[in-house]
Amino acid sequence: MKIFIDSGNLRDIESLVPLGIIDGVTTNPSLLAKEKDDPRAIIKKICQLVQGPVSAEVVATDAPGMISEGRELAKIDEHVVVKVPFTREGLKATKALSDEGLRVNVTLIFSAPQALFAAKVGAAYVSPFVGRLDDISANGMELVRQIVETFSQYDFGTEVLAASMRGPLHILEAARMGAHVCTCPPAVIEACLKHPLTDIGLKQFLGDWEKAQAARV
Ligand code: G3P
Repeated sequence: MKIFIDSGNLRDIESLVPLGIIDGVTTNPSLLAKEKDDPRAIIKKICQLVQGPVSAEVVATDAPGMISEGRELAKIDEHVVVKVPFTREGLKATKALSDEGLRVNVTLIFSAPQALFAAKVGAAYVSPFVGRLDDISANGMELVRQIVETFSQYDFGTEVLAASMRGPLHILEAARMGAHVCTCPPAVIEACLKHPLTDIGLKQFLGDWEKAQAARV
């Protein structure tokens, strides 16, 4: 499973890329609104850092607007994936942009039929929002399972990108279900790096080593 960072924060991305586990980045208007710099400049810098797919979302709501915005976003860098919300207009825009050869990530997916329709119009990725379903007492991971199962019956070439991840168990479940990609906030990736038994074990190993070295002198 590919791991994307769900962030527009350059410092967080710079700190995680050297780990070697990061395959791409997703942003959205809310994430970029938190940053001071020009959104296009941020997207360009992220592309240079990650050298993998970087989702940049349109803010137009009509298909012609989404299409022209998507074309402009794609000009920022070859790694840009145009992110389009799942709406009637978004479907039309996804079809047009995909037909032009641009990669589209259809976002705000909350049902398997939405994912199916997005795949039919050529989406490169569909983004089911797991955490936001959990927030309203629905089962977000079940949606990922349904989409992976549905896509496995066909040959769309659309990747399932599990989004709105809230903790390490979401990552594990997405991987067990066969999601192609999981996009995670930096804090969720950081949480996966830590385990108290690893810290305790390492402290013990180093302590034992030092004691043995001191005894040899
Ligand atoms: O970037 C899309 C998605 O991952 C948003 O997550 O945490 O705002 O529900 P969240």
